[in-house]
Amino acid sequence: MTQTPPILELRDVDTFYGPVQAHFGLSLRVERGEIVCLLGGNASGKSTTMKIILGLVKPTAGDVLIDGVSVLGLSTPRIVRLGVGTVPEARRLFGAMSVRENLLMGAFTRNDKAAVAADLERVLALFPRVAERIGQQAGTLSGGEQQMVAMARALMARPRIIIMDEPTMGLSPLWVDRVLSLIRDINGEGVSIFMVEQNANLALQIADRGYVLQTGRVVIEAAAADLLVDTRIRDAYLGGAEAA
Ligand SMILES: Nc1ncnc2c1ncn2[C@@H]1O[C@H](COP(=O)(O)OP(=O)(O)OP(=O)(O)O)[C@@H](O)[C@H]1O
Ligand SMILES: [Mg+2]
Repeated sequence: MTQTPPILELRDVDTFYGPVQAHFGLSLRVERGEIVCLLGGNASGKSTTMKIILGLVKPTAGDVLIDGVSVLGLSTPRIVRLGVGTVPEARRLFGAMSVRENLLMGAFTRNDKAAVAADLERVLALFPRVAERIGQQAGTLSGGEQQMVAMARALMARPRIIIMDEPTMGLSPLWVDRVLSLIRDINGEGVSIFMVEQNANLALQIADRGYVLQTGRVVIEAAAADLLVDTRIRDAYLGGAEAA
């Protein structure tokens, strides 16, 4: 019997920015249907990991595989067509365009107009708040609302996995809860999730597994439930005993 390959896998990746090495033999994977959280301090290589997966930065060694097939050297649009969605850091909405136009931009790689229209309805049902703001100029939305539009836009590409770099950054506690609960809903629709998150305590509550990066190396890999009670994690990322 053949085993299903992980939806995403990095194998022994080395990455350099000029003389600066950002990854040292980085290996990790996301199995189908999982929520996997990437933790680590500032400058540990988290955003670079996301950029490598999307083909925005090229590793100097190692491999990146989607469904067991290498995507090294492919352009970002081709990687997106393979089913990799993204909610980039700082969201990058088209501020002067309406919410509807932003959502339709998410489907730019697709030619199936009728299915895109159906998906818009489905995505708006999942994000009622976005539906209420459909005609509004995206740049005038609140930070939390913009984050929701960014996630809804990612879904419009019909991704099988979504890569998210700090989806709750800058949001109030209420919006952090909302966004994380939406991530769980998206995952419930069968989409795998790979996310960088500073709110480790909350993110690990919805995640299946997590990795901790330290200066470009995986130093801990464990089930989310184990990371939540790991004293090394709690001291470094969860605010010590207060996080209990
Ligand atoms: N374009 C670049 N040119 C040169 N060095 C870079 C570039 N992008 C990132 N780096 C370096 O690579 C290392 C990893 O950066 P990265 O952005 O991946 O970290 P991070 O874990 O996302 O940090 P943060 O938590 O602050 O977002 C850092 O030392 C950073 O200075
Ligand atoms: Mg970063």
